[in-house]
Amino acid sequence: MVSIAIDGPGGAGKSTIAKALAKKLGYIYVDTGALYRAIGLYMLNSGADTKDMSAVTPKLAEIDVELKYVDGAQKVILCGQDVSSEIRKPEVSMAASDVSAIGDVRAFLLDLQRDMARKNNVIMDGRDIGTVVLPNAQIKIFLTASAEERAMRRYKELVEKGVEVEYETVLKELNERDYQDSHREIAPLKPAEDADLIDTTGNNLEQSVNMLAEYVSKRLGELEE
Ligand code: DC
Repeated sequence: MVSIAIDGPGGAGKSTIAKALAKKLGYIYVDTGALYRAIGLYMLNSGADTKDMSAVTPKLAEIDVELKYVDGAQKVILCGQDVSSEIRKPEVSMAASDVSAIGDVRAFLLDLQRDMARKNNVIMDGRDIGTVVLPNAQIKIFLTASAEERAMRRYKELVEKGVEVEYETVLKELNERDYQDSHREIAPLKPAEDADLIDTTGNNLEQSVNMLAEYVSKRLGELEE
């Protein structure tokens, strides 16, 4: 099986690019952030303090989370319910980042992620895929772009969805989340030593998809040699 790991900060375009590449290659796209978001959502709904390990850890036993694929699109099923849209709400982003710093939460989701890669050719995106989840992935990419540009992309996405929000707020929250994700003790966001750094600042999405597609097909060609 071939695994392609794409890590990087929020709003770098990981999911859109990975989704497009997966379609091109006939791989399964695994959005691991969605799993942390599902746990974050569960904790918010049950009133647990998402930063408090002693509140979060015991509740993990109540949670059943699965990934399903409908026409190639990933759906997140939390305790039998499709929460794929709900987990995209801005308040869930920070809750996901909070719970993702808790070791028991990361351990809880690890097998599920590795299992997907054992059974399928995958493009998996997240924060620790190349470093922790799939250290033997054949291709590892660390995708980034300037904070201002990532925030602008997020801002536009939210406005398109009809969410009322200010650009400055989006930028502040993105910076907070990146700081928290890169400074946690367990599996912090950082490039794997053997990852290639790709910066998409100044690109539109189509240009980024093409840039990555070219890069991945070159690397896959090298693997076959
Ligand atoms: O990719 P995303 O924005 O949907 O991820 C939401 C949060 O989940 C992110 O702020 C940190 C956490 N996360 C993680 O810790 N490890 C991953 N592999 C993916 C996401």
